Amino acid sequence: MADEPLVLGIETSCDETGVGIVRGHTLLADALASSVEEHARFGGVVPEVASRAHLEAIVPTMDRALREAGVTIADVDAIAVTSGPGLAGALLVGVAAAKGYAVAAEKPVYGVNHLAAHVAVDTLEHGPLPEPAIALLVSGGHSSLLRVDDLARGVVPLGATIDDAAGEAFDKVARLLGLPFPGGPYIDREARAGDPVSIAFPRGLTAAKDLAAHRYDFSFSGLKTAVARWVEARQRAGEPVPVADVAASFQEAVCDVLVGKALDACRSSGIDTLVIGGGVAANSRLRAMAEQRAEKHGVRVRTPRPKLCTDNGAMVAALGSHLVAAGVAPSRLDLPADSAMPLTVVSV
Ligand code: KG4
Ligand code: ZN
Repeated sequence: MADEPLVLGIETSCDETGVGIVRGHTLLADALASSVEEHARFGGVVPEVASRAHLEAIVPTMDRALREAGVTIADVDAIAVTSGPGLAGALLVGVAAAKGYAVAAEKPVYGVNHLAAHVAVDTLEHGPLPEPAIALLVSGGHSSLLRVDDLARGVVPLGATIDDAAGEAFDKVARLLGLPFPGGPYIDREARAGDPVSIAFPRGLTAAKDLAAHRYDFSFSGLKTAVARWVEARQRAGEPVPVADVAASFQEAVCDVLVGKALDACRSSGIDTLVIGGGVAANSRLRAMAEQRAEKHGVRVRTPRPKLCTDNGAMVAALGSHLVAAGVAPSRLDLPADSAMPLTVVSV
């Protein structure tokens, strides 16, 4: 509808320069420039390299998004930008750009939380999010379970990883299997040819003694170590490493815990909507397992299409649009780039 807000979103928290444009819940443009290849040989994102790449990409990516949507900056009702959490230098580029465009075009600007944006992006696919909902947020830097009563004003953390993030575990295990960075998509692909029950890897924080204190928390570092020990034992014995089986069994262990705890949160709170967001939500096994198990419990799973799960500008625009529609006031022009922005703060 033409009277819905036209919102442009800018994302630069990690290695993707994203600019998305939405009208209400409709995606009009999603331009992306990635520096992932510049980081691949280091096996992880190099912050200085990412910042410089954002600087080079931000204006062309803005132009591309506006062209794709067939609008000009003058048509836009508001600009949203990732204020945090993320890499400080990378965030600064997006925040500075958003302020520049906002001042030049006299537009309100919303500094938003990257993690809430991973949840909000699903509205572009499935429409308004029923509230309350449980959200499982799984990315390269975060793994959390949240209760979402009002996405425009705050979320309630139920639990989080106590060590590695789920995506980080995928990336580390991929590395020890000799797969490229970032490893999530490569494990996903390898696992399709493997047997997920061939190796019994541990399910962190699921034993009765852990559940009392960590019912909704995650731990993936023990799993990562178990995979490393298993692979080393094979290599020491001079036997080939069955990469597909290891990938499938590891992936099964991660998904089993994520889905189990997310559905437990739904059950115990009587909430029948589970939204899954973040880069790991692109995982094909996680999506299939969540659907399968949720159905038995009468829970509806909402997961955006894989391209919208990983970092992009559309997710920031989607959250911005939600904030405008909810009547939330814009940020001040001195809004910060906050690398440690708390999960509970949706906009600054
Ligand atoms: O949300 P995201 O793009 O960036 C952060 O905010 O961290 O998430 C990136 C993470 C990486 O660890 C990557 O390996 C993982 O998401 N990932 C996947 C898949 N696609 C991306 N993990 C498992 N399966 C996938 N298909
Ligand atoms: Zn992310």
